[in-house]
Amino acid sequence: MPSFGFSTVPHIVSESGVSRKIGALITQHFPDARHALLVTDAGFLKTGLVEAPIASIKAAGLQVSVFSDVVADPPEAVVLKAVEDARRAGTDLVIGFGGGSSMDVAKLIAVLSGSDQDLKSMYGVGNVKGGRLPLIQVPTTAGTGSEVTPISIVTTGATTKMGVVSPQLYADVAVLDAELTIGLPPKVTAATGIDAMVHAIEAYTTKLKKNPLSDMLAAKALELLSSNILAACEDGKNLAVRQAMLLGAMLAGQSFANAPCAAVHALAYPIGGIFHVPHGLSNSLVLPHVLRFNAPAAAGMYAELAEIVAPGATGSVEARTQALINRMDEIARRTGIETQLRQVGVQESDLDRMADDAMLQTRLLTNNPREVTREDARAIYAAAL
Ligand SMILES: NC(=O)c1ccc[n+]([C@@H]2O[C@H](COP(=O)([O-])OP(=O)(O)OC[C@H]3O[C@@H](n4cnc5c(N)ncnc54)[C@H](O)[C@@H]3O)[C@@H](O)[C@H]2O)c1
Ligand SMILES: [Fe+2]
Repeated sequence: MPSFGFSTVPHIVSESGVSRKIGALITQHFPDARHALLVTDAGFLKTGLVEAPIASIKAAGLQVSVFSDVVADPPEAVVLKAVEDARRAGTDLVIGFGGGSSMDVAKLIAVLSGSDQDLKSMYGVGNVKGGRLPLIQVPTTAGTGSEVTPISIVTTGATTKMGVVSPQLYADVAVLDAELTIGLPPKVTAATGIDAMVHAIEAYTTKLKKNPLSDMLAAKALELLSSNILAACEDGKNLAVRQAMLLGAMLAGQSFANAPCAAVHALAYPIGGIFHVPHGLSNSLVLPHVLRFNAPAAAGMYAELAEIVAPGATGSVEARTQALINRMDEIARRTGIETQLRQVGVQESDLDRMADDAMLQTRLLTNNPREVTREDARAIYAAAL
């Protein structure tokens, strides 16, 4: 049995429609809160789904401001502007309300608005000093699992992404409400759902911090996600299916928060950074090729996961590993998302730069079950082209 530590968010509520009663949750957990800042993006704001939660917060006696300038893969400037708005409004409670981008910005508002620490000095692991404002996270994609991770990903410079990873980034409350996700378009449902599946796969096979709790959570996450993802794409209004996807994504988040991601994410970042491909799709594009590359070191674990993701998979470890790869490939194809790098604008001449960039993701690569050299990274991209 390995020695390990495990942390997660202390309060989780999973219930369709619960965000319409979020005011009561706030009163229960933060009776002294007076001024909430709801952090979202313009796309989600347009759905109108923030109206009922805002009314509920006001009915609980709080003032509410909305910051809706979050953009996908948020750059530093957006974070800093949000912090300025939060300070000006006298915010004493932050609510992330959106996909990973909005929740990641909400985390940084919560730590930065009461602190004089510079954002740049927070990148890396364990570099946030001091506390934060109360923080509630409400995901609207199923997805990143950011509602239960201590990670915030920021786009720094033109194309590179960096992570702030610190225990202060764990929220106080995570709220899973399927009603918020029924309008998520099928391709976004597919890409974000595959992102969640990748979190579970990478956590289960992570090299340094693999632990029994993360394993259990990853297995349950994959069961929920693999059995509901196609239904969620085909019938987005099915609340039971959507709630199962949210739960699966959150369990995967709890898992990888303690057993970190690896080469799929490392190789995905340059695709997102340079070609502005959404995070989940970037992961999906390299996934089967990284699984194939990792197989010599991870086949035993992949075979175990195949029994969950591709029920009925039998035979040798190699045969079951192939069944896992085939099933992930099948999910991507059936949902109609892109499956080759060239479909998102990548050319052969881009591969060297992408391989160079991927090698900078040492925080992730160090967790991969098989060592990845620059030549390996380039070969994986070439196979995915
Ligand atoms: N913190 C973490 O642990 C963690 C983990 C993985 C990824 N990330 C980061 O999260 C970000 C990606 O998050 P994401 O994949 O959730 O996407 P996102 O937050 O960038 O949102 C993508 C798009 O979906 C729209 N959208 C969101 N919810 C919707 C809904 N319910 N209905 C209709 N439209 C909706 C948004 O308006 C946006 O246009 C990236 O920056 C990535 O690096 C963070
Ligand atoms: Fe991810």
